[in-house]
Formats: sequence, C-alpha cells, structure tokens
Amino acid sequence: MAYKIAVLPGDGIGPEVMKEALKVLKVLEKKYQLFFEIKEGYIGGSAIERYGTPLPDETLKYCSESEAILLGSIGGPRWDHLPPEQRPEIGGLLQLRKTLRLFANIRPVILFEDLKRISPLSPSVIKGKIDLVTVRELSSGIYFGQPRGLSEDEGYDTMRYRREEVEKIARVGFETAGKRRKKVTSVDKANVLRSSMLWRRVVSEVAEEYPDVELNHMYVDNAAMQLILNPSQFDVILTTNLFGDILSDESAAIAGSLGMLPSASLGDNIHLYEPAGGSAPDIAGKGIANPIAQILSLALMLDYSFDLSRAAADVVKAVENTIKKGYRTADIAGNDGKPVSTGKIGDLICEEIR
Ligand code: NAD
Ligand code: IPM
Ligand code: MN
Repeated sequence: MAYKIAVLPGDGIGPEVMKEALKVLKVLEKKYQLFFEIKEGYIGGSAIERYGTPLPDETLKYCSESEAILLGSIGGPRWDHLPPEQRPEIGGLLQLRKTLRLFANIRPVILFEDLKRISPLSPSVIKGKIDLVTVRELSSGIYFGQPRGLSEDEGYDTMRYRREEVEKIARVGFETAGKRRKKVTSVDKANVLRSSMLWRRVVSEVAEEYPDVELNHMYVDNAAMQLILNPSQFDVILTTNLFGDILSDESAAIAGSLGMLPSASLGDNIHLYEPAGGSAPDIAGKGIANPIAQILSLALMLDYSFDLSRAAADVVKAVENTIKKGYRTADIAGNDGKPVSTGKIGDLICEEIR
C-alpha cells in the first residue's frame, strides 16, 4: 500500500531542509517496508517565479490527490513588494490553509535534555520539566476577518471569531490536553477585545464537556512573560491565530531555536505538516539551516496521518541521539563544538534510524 504525500518545498531554506526530511522518509521506507508516493509541487515565491501565482492549480490538485501534505516554508524579501493577495504568505500559505480548512495548528515544544545548556533561559527556570504544546486556531481570526483593506493612508484588519470556530478549536485543545497533563491555558485579550470576550466565554462552556481537564485563562501579555518566567507551568496553550503565531515562536526559543519547532495543521479531511519557522532568508543557500523542525514535522505526519507511531517515535529518538552525540547545526551549537551542515545532520539522523 502506498501512502500518498504532496511535498511542497517552498522558498529559502525550505528546499534545503525538505531534502533532509525526504532522506529520512527513504530510510523509513526501507526499514519498515513502506512506500510513500510523492508529488512535488510549487508554492509561494518559487511558484510565483514559475507560474506567476503563489498557489498554482497544479499544487492544489496534488494536495487534493494526497493523504497528507509536507510543506517547507515560503516567502522572502524578493516578493515583499507585491500586493497583499499576490504575496507568498497571503496568496500562497494562507490561501492553502483556508482552502483545505486547516483550522488547528499544533506546535509541540520538545526540549531535549542535551539542549538545556544552550537555552536562553537560566538553569533555574528550565530545571523543571518543560513539555508544552500550542494549539493555535489557524483559519480565522484577524488573519481572515472582513472587512480589511489597505490604501495609501490607511490599513486595517478585523479580528473576528464565530462561536462554532471557537468551539471547534477549543475541543482540539481539550482533547490534546486529555492525552497529556490535562491542563489547558486559554490565552486571549478578553480585557479589551470583543473577539476575546467571546473566545473566553465559549472556551469556558466547552470546558464543561471535559471535566477531567483543568482550564485557566490568561491574558496574552502576561502569557508572553510567563513563558519566559515559568514555562513548566504550561501543558496546552490554547489560543487564537495571531497570538498563537507569536507565542509559538517564543516557545521555540525555549527549545533552543526556531529550527527545532515542528507543527501539524489539522483539517477535517487532510492535514498539513510544516516547520513553525520561516524561509530564513538570512541563512538560505549557506547549507547551515537546521532541518530538525522539518524532520519532526515529518514525524508528526507519520503519527497523525498514517498511524505509523513506531516509525514516528524512531525519528524523534534518532534526533535526540544525534544531539546527544554532540552533533549540532549552528543555531543550536552553543559556544562549544563545531557545527555541522544541514546535509550532515540529516545524514547522521538517518544513520541513527537505520
Ligand atoms: P524566519 O522564521 O524565517 O527566521 C527568523 C530567525 O530564525 C532567523 O534568524 C532565521 O535564520 C532563524 N531560523 C528560522 N528557521 C531556522 C532553521 N530551520 N535553522 C536555523 N535558523 C532558523 O522569520 P522571518 O525572518 O521573520 O521571515 C522570513 C520569511 O519567512 C518571511 O517571508 C516570512 O513571511 C516567512 N515565513 C514563512 C513561514 C512559513 O512558511 N510557514 C513561517 C514564518 C515566516
Ligand atoms: C507561521 C507563519 C505564517 C503565519 C505566515 C508566513 C503567514 O508565520 O506559520 O507561523 O503567520 O501563520
Ligand atoms: Mn509564525
């Protein structure tokens, strides 16, 4: 039986880290006698260059014919001058999320023991166990609310949530927590924003369906501080599209680098897997990007979309062992040790899996 995957490498470091994830996939095929049927498509800036649009029909077709999508990352300064709808981020990625109704984005922070040393947080802060996941609403909120507009003198967006949207993401939050430490921290700005007032009310209502899960509410400004001050208090951070975008990058720093944070974007039919970080134009083309977020996103895909939990656990273990042996890309190298390239760490992870 073939598992069908659409692979969209994207821009900047996207294709560089995707190459390593695909190496891992090949090793798993051999080890577990699996077969992945891959269709590779263009999205973002690379699609603009080739097709004149950030989300070509061909790419959408590949996605609809697949059982899961693996995405690199998109965007870069080269396309920043384009009108909003034609930009890689809005016309490409957000359009894809909306089209596939990817409403929940799961971003787990895994702080490997051997990376605690390079965490920017002080040893006293990270001595407790840090194991948190952001459950971010992904297809509504201020990213999509109407009206919105941009003219010479004015730019505006609308932060809007409907009850059903909040109910749906809240259930994902509570169910995620139910399989973990059973604690949801819902993050909003309900002291000011109407959309957050609704959010808080609806999340509290949904909580009643999950009596074994503890719920507390936190304002986003405080949450940003608490993440640095005392990250081990969090289990599931349940939050809106914009706040989740910001807080999850912050949470990546706890794990040592944005290059360590994978994500799963869940839809009703198909799920998409993408690193939380971007196309990193500052390091693209240098062969130094960290492919671990992409490889861990692949592991999430094996687990969530294909129920291949043993293979997924293998991948995570291989990453952990590689780090333990002292091999690091530059972003997680710290002061000691010589960083290895993107390709080298990919090879080492593959070796561990074999
Ligand atoms: P970014 O996430 O690309 O980079 C932020 C910082 O983190 C940079 O210093 C970068 O070098 C570092 N970094 C990120 N991933 C890394 C990795 N795998 N290994 C080592 N270092 C890594 O954010 P940015 O610079 O604000 O944005 C650059 C472009 O990426 C923009 O066009 C933005 O819109 C886009 N973006 C895309 C996605 C996505 O496709 N999912 C996500 C975020 C940003
Ligand atoms: C992310 C990115 C995207 C977002 C951008 C590129 C549209 O920052 O996936 O975190 O804001 O959702
Ligand atoms: Mn982001």
